[in-house]
Amino acid sequence: MNAGFANCDRPSASQGSSEPLIVLENIARIYGHGAAAVTALAGVDLSIVRSEFVAAVGPSGSGKSTFLNLIGCLDTPSSGRYRFKGIDTGTLDATGRALLRRTCIGFVFQRFHLIKRASALENVELPLLYQGVSHHVRRDAAAAMLAVVGLSQRMHSTPDKLSGGQQQRVAIARALVVRPDLLIADEPTGALDSVTGAEIVGLLKQLNREVGTTIVIVTHDPSVAKQAARTIRFVDGHVMQGCVNDGCGSGT
Ligand SMILES: Nc1ncnc2c1ncn2[C@@H]1O[C@H](COP(=O)(O)OP(=O)(O)O)[C@@H](O)[C@H]1O
Ligand SMILES: [Mg+2]
Repeated sequence: MNAGFANCDRPSASQGSSEPLIVLENIARIYGHGAAAVTALAGVDLSIVRSEFVAAVGPSGSGKSTFLNLIGCLDTPSSGRYRFKGIDTGTLDATGRALLRRTCIGFVFQRFHLIKRASALENVELPLLYQGVSHHVRRDAAAAMLAVVGLSQRMHSTPDKLSGGQQQRVAIARALVVRPDLLIADEPTGALDSVTGAEIVGLLKQLNREVGTTIVIVTHDPSVAKQAARTIRFVDGHVMQGCVNDGCGSGT
């Protein structure tokens, strides 16, 4: 295991309390080479502090998913530096990044990505299984998290017996069961009707407020972006510096 990763499990001296959770310094991400090269992000400088609820908005192709992949340690920048929890992620190898993702970051996707044959409870247990947590402990933790998202009554149902909104609640419980520092959601309401989408955003807001999880979501929906405390607008791979949410950066 990479030594830098040890910082992830517990606060360390290098992670001063004033250090933002996420610090991007002059980040670029270029896909491909030569004439086929596409600059998805260019010169991005950005900080996100703990317990923030941030919405990333901008036109299709402006770099939002690339940004989420980078801050989620699913991808690495072409240049620049990304510090997460005080860790310079450029010093981590693929194993170190995978461990960091598994213990510190939860992911929620537009289309839920639940395991079809597994119950809600088994789906939520899965990240703890990957961490080697014992059966009883992970069962209790998964049941408790399903209670937090309001699904105690449905914990033995498989996804095909659940509505879209309920499936997204299961996915949120799965993302949060490891008590991550960061929750990342790419269009979490994109596959839901507007009423259900509003309920899911309300749940994320509640979790942000009550559990203190830092949340970064990508959304095309101005009414969703408005719920976040800060909006970051992407345009052609650049960040138009964020603002407190007063309508200055919502929608596409
Ligand atoms: N794997 C890839 N290979 C080549 N180009 C890519 C890849 N992923 C994204 N891009 C390009 O990078 C730019 C930003 O994409 P993306 O981050 O997906 O934008 P958004 O999520 O805002 O729609 C786009 O021009 C897109 O075509
Ligand atoms: Mg995208």
